[in-house]
Amino acid sequence: MKIIHLSMECYPAAKAGGLGDVVGALPKYQNRLGFEASVCMPKYNTAWILKQKTEHVFQGVFVQYGEHRPFAIERVLNHDLGFELFLINLPGLFDRESIYIDQRTGRGFSDEIERNVGFQKAALTWIGQMEEMPAILHCHDHHTALVPFFINEAFDFEHMRSIATVLTIHNGMYQGGMPWSKLGVLPAFHPERGGLLEWEQHINSLACGIKTAWKVTTVSSGYMRELAMDARGLEMLFRMEYKKCSGLLNGIDNELWDPSTDSYLDNRLEGDLMEYKQANKASVEREYGLVPGKPLFTFIGRFAYEKGADLLPEIIADALFSGLDANFFILGSGDLTIQHQIGQLKTKFPERFNVEFAYNEPLSHRLYAGSDFLLMPSRVEPCGLNQLYALRYGAIPVVHAVGGLKDTVPDLRSGEGTGFAFAKLDANQIRSALFAAEELFRHSANFVAVLEKNRLIDHSWETATEQYIELYKEMLPNYSTEHVKS
Ligand code: GLC
Repeated sequence: MKIIHLSMECYPAAKAGGLGDVVGALPKYQNRLGFEASVCMPKYNTAWILKQKTEHVFQGVFVQYGEHRPFAIERVLNHDLGFELFLINLPGLFDRESIYIDQRTGRGFSDEIERNVGFQKAALTWIGQMEEMPAILHCHDHHTALVPFFINEAFDFEHMRSIATVLTIHNGMYQGGMPWSKLGVLPAFHPERGGLLEWEQHINSLACGIKTAWKVTTVSSGYMRELAMDARGLEMLFRMEYKKCSGLLNGIDNELWDPSTDSYLDNRLEGDLMEYKQANKASVEREYGLVPGKPLFTFIGRFAYEKGADLLPEIIADALFSGLDANFFILGSGDLTIQHQIGQLKTKFPERFNVEFAYNEPLSHRLYAGSDFLLMPSRVEPCGLNQLYALRYGAIPVVHAVGGLKDTVPDLRSGEGTGFAFAKLDANQIRSALFAAEELFRHSANFVAVLEKNRLIDHSWETATEQYIELYKEMLPNYSTEHVKS
């Protein structure tokens, strides 16, 4: 069965967050089960993409605002990925270093709508002329959520109607809204069907995808339930469409994220778990001037409101002033106000706090291996992959119980758990979770027992991929899946 994933991110070609990790792993594991899954994404000027050899496979053109826009499809000649990667080379729209953010302004690109729609038109123009079209188009997030509408209703793509469509929502807060005055950017479609594009008087890409895709998934069942209550205005729509909606928990790529083979680590896990932890922690403590021997709490991620990064200065100051005997480390970048406040902690708590303002993949691996606890005070967390990496690398998650965090981090204080979870983002609850974590750390036998148990939890894509297979089979019951292991 041929599947094409359409996405703005795919690790290692381009990644801004978890979407990149998922799209860089899921197709590889689908292929191992006998599918023919590939990824189509924009050709950005990222370091990884610029290094690749590619083969030209298609030259096409589409019309935008009455103008002809030529584009090319290039196949990446790299066998390490485990899937075919196709890049859309669209001069003027994607040949930039960054995926979403205009580095000159620190904000999203002003031509975001033209880029998203251009990507979808180019992808469909290419796919629509294939001799063997895919059975499934798997769209990720709002950037590609107009695809099901285009293939149902746009004159240029009507011949693709029989292709089944899945929309996976990695973040429902971004919806790809646009005013009706932007109508000209879209391909011409059956006018009486225009209502499908609309939500609350605007064109809303995500809403349109939810209405028109064959199946809608998000990345945990907890988040799917939350979306029906609060989805930035789309909650009614999620309730109306609940029959085709499901929450399928993400997996992680156990090959890429394996502490016993991880090439980013100086001290790999070779036998004794605590030896590995202590060696990695000591190297972080030394490099960042932290007092040795204290429990280390780390935050890794974008400084965004939904990740609760703005709460970190208060959480950390409150904990250290209240006598928590621990160190804190932050790795991340993003909002400059948050960055400034976090920077001040360094002056307040030298030797107990340090920070690296960066997106740094190698350091993140070292921190999962070297930290005792991973702090995630997210306001919204559709799945969260960091807590899954932490479980595998021996850092205990301390999280706000939302979305996927609630599903994967039951609280140790209520019996069987994997970490510490606070039900509310409330100072008392957070403080008591941090103190409970510190206490566990002091009881080293119990602490090690939790690490050992967490490490064995199976969050691999090997297992997680099977839910998608069930979903595909549900959509295409007559499709031959004989060659596909079930
Ligand atoms: C987004 C979500 C995150 C999720 C990831 C992959 O980044 O914020 O929770 O794990 O997508 O699905």
